[in-house]
Amino acid sequence: MKRIKAIYPGSFDPPTNGHLDLIERGSKIFDELVVAILRNPEKDPLFSVADRRKMLEEMTSSFDNVSVDTFDGLTVDYALRVEAQAILRGIRAISDYEYELQMALMNRKLQPALETVFMMPAEKYSYLSSRLVREVAQLGGAIECLVPELVEQKVREKMDIAHKFANGELLPGKAPSEGKSKSRKKKA
Ligand code: PNS
Repeated sequence: MKRIKAIYPGSFDPPTNGHLDLIERGSKIFDELVVAILRNPEKDPLFSVADRRKMLEEMTSSFDNVSVDTFDGLTVDYALRVEAQAILRGIRAISDYEYELQMALMNRKLQPALETVFMMPAEKYSYLSSRLVREVAQLGGAIECLVPELVEQKVREKMDIAHKFANGELLPGKAPSEGKSKSRKKKA
């Protein structure tokens, strides 16, 4: 019997409950699913690719047929390299459709043998995006219920470090203890 392998490409910065919902759905219809993180040197991400990979690996450890990988270049080239037959993408709302359709048709033009499969995450995640999670967290809002607990913790750590830099408690290129003593001197 033919086994169907799919890739689920994306930025995952950070991975959200919406991503996890889609991974779960994808793992049920594909024999194998590879969550593929784009290594994009042009973007200024919140998390390194290594961090994102680690988070996704932990989030998906209970799925036997799901693995996590990274790639650069064209998604279709990566899909062919790993011998996948399909690209999984999520559509949350009608606003996603235009961009996703454009991408799917371009990918089909580039590689007609590959199919893009769209799935919808649970309705409760239809407003959820990595960009909004970053923004809410940066402005001090609560992100629990939007991301898995392990991701929430990592985001909080990032925000704490950013706040410490902003308050002068940490100095770029200096060890945390050096930064702290300098800021104490300043306040005195
Ligand atoms: O999570 P994102 O940021 O919506 O994912 C977008 C992604 C990574 C799927 C898309 O940018 C992509 O496929 N990039 C790789 C380069 C590529 O293949 N470009 C042509 C797409 S038609």
